[in-house]
Amino acid sequence: MRVLVIGSGGREHALCRSLKLDPQVSELHCAPGNAGIEEIATLHAVTPTDPGQVASLATRLGADLVVVGPEAPLVAGVADAVRAAGIPCFGPSREPAMIEGSKAFAKDVMLAAGVPTARAHTCANPEEAAAALAEFGAPYVVKDDGLAAGKGVVVTGDLAEALAHAAACGRVVIEEFLDGPEVSLFALCDGATAVPLQPAQDFKRAYDGDEGPNTGGMGAYTPLPWAPDDLAEQVMREVVRPTVAELARRGMPYSGVLYVGLAMTAKGPKVIEFNARFGDPETQVVLDRLATPLAGLLMACANGTLAGQPPLVWRDGSAVTVVIAAENYPADPVKGDVIRGLASTPDSYVLHAGTERRDGEIVANGGRVLSVVGTGPDQATARARAYDLVAGIELRGSHHRTDIAR
Ligand code: AMP
Ligand code: GLY
Repeated sequence: MRVLVIGSGGREHALCRSLKLDPQVSELHCAPGNAGIEEIATLHAVTPTDPGQVASLATRLGADLVVVGPEAPLVAGVADAVRAAGIPCFGPSREPAMIEGSKAFAKDVMLAAGVPTARAHTCANPEEAAAALAEFGAPYVVKDDGLAAGKGVVVTGDLAEALAHAAACGRVVIEEFLDGPEVSLFALCDGATAVPLQPAQDFKRAYDGDEGPNTGGMGAYTPLPWAPDDLAEQVMREVVRPTVAELARRGMPYSGVLYVGLAMTAKGPKVIEFNARFGDPETQVVLDRLATPLAGLLMACANGTLAGQPPLVWRDGSAVTVVIAAENYPADPVKGDVIRGLASTPDSYVLHAGTERRDGEIVANGGRVLSVVGTGPDQATARARAYDLVAGIELRGSHHRTDIAR
């Protein structure tokens, strides 16, 4: 099977790594990729959000399957263009991808499907926003309606800050604060059938102790020793299947991965957000534990044969990933510094996110630069192995959290 992966982050490196390990994959391509992916796949220069460019690259390569990593190409209609070219594609079409692309659309689908989530109002102007903030009270949750690369959500106790964010965004969703630990659950979907992957937890704030600004994610681990055994099944029953059925009913069948971001509240799991793609960095740990070969599974999603797949097989033990971020991430990350000390062991390895090769050296060229993965029979061992590898990596000005999976 010839596979083309679209994207350039740690998630795409994890996807490529698993695809490379699948004996069914004869050729692996990635566009645009990064310096780590370059070691296992052939890279191609492409604008990932340009549907025509991606479809013609896939055609030229004779790809059997295209896997779209990030949300922006999905919302731009890349999966539609690839399918229109007659090539199976892993990732939802433009319309169902609005489950991530518009917070208001996601809320509307959840309401129609009876999915547990925060009560919310969509507000078109500052007056409506002020009324909604007063109704729900502090802590205030204000979300930009559109895609905002992780910067659209403000959670604050400060009413003035909440009002200012609402005014700056225009159309916003304001909702009640959900209290409880967060869990990410990914469900593979083929338009009709959905299959859960193992739940993971992500660390969204930039600094230790959940301090500092929201980021794309600073680390993750799986499995969750503290979560109930039937969590995945409960979320499938209460969230995923009703959502997939509601989208199908609206004539926009969902194929790809549905990312369910949950808060484990006192009243049970409630949806914080949906994403139309794998989470980053949760994917790095979830795929590490998945023993079922990945290519056949993603192909089954793309061609509607998920129901015929055997049950997923998982490796025992734990995986932990720690993100190394560039100086001044998430505000305005510093690019161009050289990375040294990259290494691996039988139980730990480095996935690249924002890196590129320049004059024979590997340099940082994004906010989240590396995602270091440790594995082991239990979480403490996996964590220690990840941090051992982190300790040897040099990148001037970089920062990482020291409390991931503690
Ligand atoms: P989102 O982009 O919707 O995932 O929001 C980013 C982060 O903001 C989430 O991971 C949560 O930590 C936080 N957040 C979003 N919505 C809520 C909510 N209703 N209650 C509490 N925290 C929230
Ligand atoms: N790790 C959170 C996300 O991918 O949105």
